Amino acid sequence: MALWGGRFTEQPTDAVFALSQSVGFDWRLAPYDLRSSLAHLAVLEKSSLVSKEDSAKIRGALKELIEEVASQKFLPTKEDEDVHSALERGLTTKLGPLGGSLRAGRSRNDQVTTDLRLFAIDHMLALANLLTELTEVILKKASEYIDDPAPGFTHIQHAQPISFGHEIAKHAHAFSRDISRINDWYHRASVSSLGAGALSGSSLPLDPEFTAKNLGFENTFENSIDAVSDRDYVAEALFITSLIGIHLSRIGEEWTLLGSTEFAWAKISDQYSTGSSIMPQKKNPDMAELARGKSARLIGNLVSVLTMLKGLPFAYNRDLQEDKEPFFDSLDTLFLVIPAVSGMIATTNFDREKMKLSAPTGFSLATEIADYLVRKNVPFSQAHEAAGMCVAMCEKHKIELHQLSDEQFASIHPLLDPSIRDVLTVEGAIASRTTSGGTAPSQVRKQIAAAMKKTLHQRTEIANKSKAFSEMMRA
Ligand code: ARG
Repeated sequence: MALWGGRFTEQPTDAVFALSQSVGFDWRLAPYDLRSSLAHLAVLEKSSLVSKEDSAKIRGALKELIEEVASQKFLPTKEDEDVHSALERGLTTKLGPLGGSLRAGRSRNDQVTTDLRLFAIDHMLALANLLTELTEVILKKASEYIDDPAPGFTHIQHAQPISFGHEIAKHAHAFSRDISRINDWYHRASVSSLGAGALSGSSLPLDPEFTAKNLGFENTFENSIDAVSDRDYVAEALFITSLIGIHLSRIGEEWTLLGSTEFAWAKISDQYSTGSSIMPQKKNPDMAELARGKSARLIGNLVSVLTMLKGLPFAYNRDLQEDKEPFFDSLDTLFLVIPAVSGMIATTNFDREKMKLSAPTGFSLATEIADYLVRKNVPFSQAHEAAGMCVAMCEKHKIELHQLSDEQFASIHPLLDPSIRDVLTVEGAIASRTTSGGTAPSQVRKQIAAAMKKTLHQRTEIANKSKAFSEMMRA
């Protein structure tokens, strides 16, 4: 059903209709559209633009439609242009011309962005909740490996030994920031556009603040032109989803690398691996690779929306219809990827022996020699130089640092006496890094406990917002 046509003498061609039609993807906004229609109806009734009697009829029909949309008894047809026209068809089928009353003081321009904001809040909160689950899985896995030494890397080269629990726990902090990004975003997204009247406000006695409150929004628009043109909340959400995708892709890369034949530290469970159609022995880390690969479309979706918005005139332009598919796709993608990555992490086991044996190799204890000299008041530049000479001597004789003789140490620096051996152990090196956030097991325990506590707090905050949102939707 078309929502316009009075001034036209000819029908749109099939090609025009085919290009315009968005109901194929915007139908998922239907529950939010119906809920915002209830809010608009309330303001029309409050201002006596619709009689109490008519309002009761329209409210009844909207509530029926809410049920029928949920049960799929009411569905869009191929004649419907978009979700708004499909639902108006539903209303007029039930009510006759009265079904068209809701268009008073409300344009699809205000409606579509209100619906999309409600959709966005609902789904971004669900995403934040999913991230708290992922964060917990990471922290639990990390806590299994607090006392297991492993080489720590920079440039994928052995750098210094670390607690492997520390290595795993680092991922939790990235997702915790993503959750707080969603919380910050929420306040900017929670703005009602109803009452913008297509672009200039309305001559009818509407009450935008009343409608905003009815829909649980924290704020009402301050400029009606901005209200219908602003898609910052979509762009920002797409940045957040891209960054989440990037964080997942780094896990994907790490799991792929650590599970490789050469490393063989990570044993990804069968449940989260796939086989090869030709090589019977293969067990491939496809979940990790998809986590890495899917980040590409998340970034692509962000770029699509930013490019669509760039230079776009105000107020509404049909280009804005292109905001939805990328946004929906990014959310759908993350709802697919995150549970798979959570499961993969929860069921991966690491080879403690292999990591431990590898920890001191590659002269990863050289920093201990430098720090030892610094504690004896040698300037760091000289200490660094002496430690470097120890490494060079080892390379020449094909031995490890602790295998240098007392004489060899003393020949490099007079303060390198036999007590140097006390610091040349992996356990000692790790245990000595007790600065807060450091890799000493005592610190890693504290770090994980604090991160767990923060995650629980974030989860409660999200649950409160989600509960208020669902109550609003049911009203
Ligand atoms: N389907 C449109 C969209 O998604 C709804 C708004 C249409 N407004 C208009 N003036 N044509 O943006």
